[in-house]
Amino acid sequence: MLTSIKIGCEIMEESNNDSNNIVNMSEKIKNYSTKRSMNLFKKAKKLIPTGASSLMRTSSWDPYPIYIKGGKGTRIWDVDGNQYIDFLMAFGPIINGHANDKINGAVKRYLKNGSLFGAPNEYEIKLAKEFKKFVKTQDMVIFALSGSDATFNALRIARAATGKDMVLKFEGHYHGLHDYAAVSVEAPPPVAGLRWFPKSLPYSAGIPSEVMDTVVVASWNDLESLSRILKIRGNEIGAIIMEPIMANSTVITPEDDYLKGVRELADEYNILLIFDEVITGFRVSEGGAQKLYGVTPDLSTWAKALGNGYPISAIAGKKEYMELIGNGVGYGGTYFGNPISLVAAYENLRLLGANDFQAYSHLARITRRLGRGIEEVAETLNENIYVNYETGVLSFVFTDLRKISNYRDSINIDWNKYKVIQGKMLQRGFYYHPDSAERIPPSVAHTEEDVDNFIIALEDSIKEYNREN
Ligand SMILES: Cc1ncc(COP(=O)(O)O)c(C=O)c1O
Repeated sequence: MLTSIKIGCEIMEESNNDSNNIVNMSEKIKNYSTKRSMNLFKKAKKLIPTGASSLMRTSSWDPYPIYIKGGKGTRIWDVDGNQYIDFLMAFGPIINGHANDKINGAVKRYLKNGSLFGAPNEYEIKLAKEFKKFVKTQDMVIFALSGSDATFNALRIARAATGKDMVLKFEGHYHGLHDYAAVSVEAPPPVAGLRWFPKSLPYSAGIPSEVMDTVVVASWNDLESLSRILKIRGNEIGAIIMEPIMANSTVITPEDDYLKGVRELADEYNILLIFDEVITGFRVSEGGAQKLYGVTPDLSTWAKALGNGYPISAIAGKKEYMELIGNGVGYGGTYFGNPISLVAAYENLRLLGANDFQAYSHLARITRRLGRGIEEVAETLNENIYVNYETGVLSFVFTDLRKISNYRDSINIDWNKYKVIQGKMLQRGFYYHPDSAERIPPSVAHTEEDVDNFIIALEDSIKEYNREN
């Protein structure tokens, strides 16, 4: 029962009198207003297409998104003065909490020197060294700004290395919005082709049709699909790119030995294997999914949790492929490896690496507690909820399915129920994305109390939903 739900930073009085707390909570819910967010969104839409600079910030938020003003640790507050415990964490980057004093302190100290010089920087070396302490499986690393920059360049390196233009990606996997990644991110079943050999579908207007002939799509977590496709197209394909844990179409972990099987097939056909660790990196273990599962890709891409909110990404890989950069493969960007992001990422990794990577034991505990807590709510309320998680990434969906193992399963869920309940969770002071395909990324800053309060509020929200429906 409700005992001490925290609404944002405000702690409701601990009381043995449940009915008191329920009354307080109903008051809070009744007084919850997001009028300023609504008005800002109206203004924004007149100036900015869709109202914001990334579609994920507005799509699924019906009728309007919440405008967040600031945050500290796991707490964020919006322009109307509501406070929330954040379970979106900017889609994953904020691994050490918002406005982290150590990271911001280092950035502030550096800023006295300026911000950009168009020259190499000592922090580039410091960060590369730190990166290698985490990611022991890759020989070299180079920095960029966004996850999309990283996957775009990794694909180019793989093509250059193999001399083969085609790439293979998996249905439902997301690698950013550049043309070669924006293929079959979503795949409505009536037009998506065979389950074992899906069609290549553009994720956006404006992608040249030739790109669809260059990107082959396979069904993930299904070695049979990959092996049949490679028999047909293997000799033309230069790269296989995948999220080693699928985390953009709910969280889906790889079947036993699946990654190993893909590694073997890639070798058999002289294809470079790229793990896109933009989400899993510095999250599921200090060395990413490649360490967790013991399968080493030829190249890998890293971003979100690398910079704790400062824009930075990385491409890492085997020396022989990384050294193609500058030896035929072009690379660069005005803001790539900018000092501010390098300093922030360096401090961020120092925090994550302290005391023999102790942060990851906490992250594992918190994620497990959240996962089990949601499972218990499902059991108590006799709800069909499928929960899947690995350290630092979690999703829960309303579905009759007992297991979700790839994209086509992941769309057989009750999106609407999730979204309505997410609205009720907002009123109770918990912020996460309304689209259940998006994962919840717990952070090192989350406490057991944050998690327990989330679970209490979730149970309450589901009960309310069931009373209304
Ligand atoms: C696995 C994966 N790869 C690449 C990207 C693209 O990263 P960015 O949005 O920084 O370009 C994302 C973004 O969510 C992602 O989840």
